[in-house]
Amino acid sequence: MVRAYDPQRCVPPDVRDRLLDNALHAPSAGFSQGWGFLVLESAVDRQLFWTVTTEAGEADSWLTGMIAAPLLIVCFSNKSAYLDRYAEPDKGWTDRDESRWPVPYWDIDTGMAALLILQTAVDESLGACFFGVPPDYIPALRAAFGVPDDFVPIGAISIGYRIEDRKSPSLRRGRRGAGEVVHHGRWRAVGDPQPNRAAKLGN
Ligand SMILES: Cc1cc2nc3c(=O)[nH]c(=O)nc-3n(C[C@H](O)[C@H](O)[C@H](O)COP(=O)(O)O)c2cc1C
Repeated sequence: MVRAYDPQRCVPPDVRDRLLDNALHAPSAGFSQGWGFLVLESAVDRQLFWTVTTEAGEADSWLTGMIAAPLLIVCFSNKSAYLDRYAEPDKGWTDRDESRWPVPYWDIDTGMAALLILQTAVDESLGACFFGVPPDYIPALRAAFGVPDDFVPIGAISIGYRIEDRKSPSLRRGRRGAGEVVHHGRWRAVGDPQPNRAAKLGN
């Protein structure tokens, strides 16, 4: 994630379109595609986004870097599109009972689309950062840009050409290793002996 951008360099329209085109190829449950993307490029629109989603007052260093991004894409998920899709005859969940869903696939799918935007940004030598919109600001965000109530912003992505930025303090946590989070064959706690995988394969 990149949190500071060159304000002089816009994202070319063809690159912007590739970011969005790849997003639309994300997988989705039942091919529901219950998502929506608000694309903000003009200085006026971007300023309005930051005004309605942040506290008034002096910008902190995070906001100062992020405000310079020439492109913002806000990713919205739409639960009702999934409930409608799964009420169709081939799925048959006409009760629209949400307890049928193991997790909110509408948010999962929109998150996958967001990741495709992030990965495309890397391919295009751009910097990008996925960040959350605090719940208290969501009504103002919807009102400012005419977003229907059944679209929920799962997050926004700032995109632009990177300049030097301050790394997230969260990175001090370090990346968790495969030994901690990958479980081969059986779920084992950290420190439990792992099976000898080479021996199992007969090498
Ligand atoms: C769901 C989600 C929400 C995030 N929210 C924020 C955020 O609000 N602000 C921010 O600066 N970064 C945010 N991030 C970025 C994480 O801080 C970042 O991915 C993490 O520190 C690892 O850094 P890396 O992606 O550069 O490897 C978010 C990432 C995810 C996946």
